[in-house]
Amino acid sequence: MGSIKELLQTADWKTEKHIPVIDAPAKIKKGEVAGVSVAVGKEIAHPNTTEHHIVWIAVYFLPSGEKFPYQLGKFEFSAHGASIQGPNTSTIFTQATAAFSFKTEKSGTILAVSYCNIHGLWESVKDITVE
Ligand code: FE2
Repeated sequence: MGSIKELLQTADWKTEKHIPVIDAPAKIKKGEVAGVSVAVGKEIAHPNTTEHHIVWIAVYFLPSGEKFPYQLGKFEFSAHGASIQGPNTSTIFTQATAAFSFKTEKSGTILAVSYCNIHGLWESVKDITVE
């Protein structure tokens, strides 16, 4: 028996290729639209093959002091080289990068989770302060 929180792995993104690296401003003004990008393999490339790839990234926002997160988006990466000729033959690969924007009047934490079809779930967080 276990819990999904026991399955979420984390590490330093500079040495671990599965970490969803969050790029977002540290401070924004109330109601300002903040651009966010989340990428897996920013420092060390993660494989992107039919057999081994990042399937999705989900991004949440947890306002400071609150209990329940808001899902900001979920991004599926569906092309991993497969074609009618077989695995790794299409030359078409979606890359595990998600970009979006959002606004908030509350400070809090952006949380990202990535899912590798072989190595499971990986998380990272980044605080954002509303002035
Ligand atoms: Fe992997």
